[in-house]
Order: sequence, then structure tokens, then C-alpha cells
Amino acid sequence: MRLDRMLLGLGCTWVALGLPVQASDLARAEEIVQGKCFICHGVSGESSSPVFPRLAGQNEAYVARQLADYKSGKRRSTTMQPMVEDMSGDDFRALGAYFASRQPQVHAVDDADLAQVGRFVFQRGNPYSGVAACAGCHGVNGHGSASLPRLAGQHAQYTESQLKLFDRRERTNDNAVMHGIASKLTELEMKAVSAYISGLQ
Ligand code: HEC
Ligand code: HEC
Repeated sequence: MRLDRMLLGLGCTWVALGLPVQASDLARAEEIVQGKCFICHGVSGESSSPVFPRLAGQNEAYVARQLADYKSGKRRSTTMQPMVEDMSGDDFRALGAYFASRQPQVHAVDDADLAQVGRFVFQRGNPYSGVAACAGCHGVNGHGSASLPRLAGQHAQYTESQLKLFDRRERTNDNAVMHGIASKLTELEMKAVSAYISGLQ
């Protein structure tokens, strides 16, 4: 293979890895958000209703993958599927970079006692029922990683609803990792850990 071909190949790999997102991509993402996403998620990803997830500060690759999964139907949502059906992988990457670059706000918890119970579950798990500590994967501050979602500051109601979807296997795009965890959580543990997460910054 000729050297220029090889370099071209490398260049494509570079693009496929999603590095780096240009200013023009961010501008396109902002246009898309102001066109339709803002209605539910807010212009800066700070959704005002507890049923719509906050996206400010959410991790780039995670957002891009969720959008692709909504498009393919791997993650089922009658609300989100039509939002993304005419979009491309480049749009998803740009939207991921856009939301990752928004500053998340700090939120107060509604029920401090409940959040204290949740703190134990989040940081230590439940050794008596075999629940792994959330912090082990999502980080002690709930910031996640490149591929794992940020949980910190999320609406408690949204978090709880996702735990229930994982439990019932109605959200299945996580290779069953979260199903194994959510299926062992009691109702109290789900509500408590969701309350604790909502106050993390
Ligand atoms: C009509 C309201 C509405 C609009 C408009 C909307 N969304 Fe959503 N979005 C939702 C709901 C509801 C969910 C949660 C669905 C579920 O349970 O999977 C969601 C979930 C998401 C998620 C997954 C978040 C996570 O933490 O896993 C992303 C990313 C997202 N939306 C991005 C977008 C983008 C980008 C747009 C614009 C192209 C958009 N949404 C437009 C309601 C909306
Ligand atoms: C072994 C690693 C691991 C552990 C431990 C873990 N998670 Fe997860 N979690 C994941 C992965 C992987 C995903 C991403 C799923 C996907 O890509 O759709 C996820 C996704 C989630 C989501 C969806 C976030 C969103 O924005 O929609 C929530 C909520 C969540 N986890 C809560 C928890 C809670 C609460 C605990 C502790 C009780 C926990 N997780 C423990 C790996 C883990």
C-alpha cells in the first residue's frame, strides 16, 4: 500500500475515533439544540422537568452512543426516536461534544435523610444483597468516564425511572450490566440512591 494511502487510512481512523470536534461542529450542534432539543432539555442541557434528563456536563461518547441507540431502536423511546431519526453519526458526536462542554449546575436534594441512605448505597453498595457500589464504575463523585454516564446532579425522578427500566429489562443497551445491579435494589434503595445522586456536583 502506498504511503499516502496509509496516511489517509490513519486519518480516517482518527476521524472515526471522534478526535477532535471542531468549532463548526459545536455551532451546528447548538443550532440543532436551539431548533428542537431545548424544548425538553433546555438550551444548556439543564432540563427543567424531572422527567427529562439533564444533559449539561454529560460525557461526550456516552451521549453520542445513546443517540445512535435511539436511532437504531437499541434503546427504545417513542419520544427520542423521532428526534434523531434523520441525524448522522457526525451530528451525534457534535451533540455529545456540545453537551459535554456545558457547565452543570449545582442542585439541592429534596430529602436529606433519604439521600443519606443513598450515600451508603452509592459509595459502598449493599454487601448483604450483593449490590456493587455505584462509585466503583460511575466514580466517587458520579462523574462517570468517557463511556460511562455522568450521574451527578441528575433529576432524582429520571434516575429512578431508568433504574426501573433496567430492572424490567426495558432498557437493554447496557449489556445487562445495570440490569444485574438494578434487579437487586429495593424500592427504598432506588429512591435513596437517586436522591443522593441528585445532589452530587
Ligand atoms: C419532547 C421532549 C424531548 C425532546 C424535544 C428531546 N428529548 Fe431527549 N429525552 C427526552 C426523554 C423523555 C428522554 C428519556 C427517554 C428514555 O427513557 O430513554 C430523553 C433522553 C435523551 C438522552 C439520553 C440521556 C441519558 O442520560 O441517557 C439524550 C442524550 C437526549 N435525550 C438528547 C436529545 C437531543 C440531542 C435532542 C434534540 C435533537 C432531544 N434529546 C430532544 C425528551 C426529549
Ligand atoms: C459494573 C459497573 C457499574 C456499576 C457498579 C454501576 N453502574 Fe450504572 N451504568 C453502568 C454502565 C455501563 C451504564 C451505561 C449503560 C449504557 O451505556 O446505556 C450505566 C448506566 C447507569 C444509569 C443510566 C444513566 C442515564 O443517564 O440514563 C444509571 C441511572 C445508573 N447507571 C445508576 C447506577 C447506580 C445507582 C448504581 C449503584 C447502585 C450503578 N449505576 C452501578 C455501569 C455500572
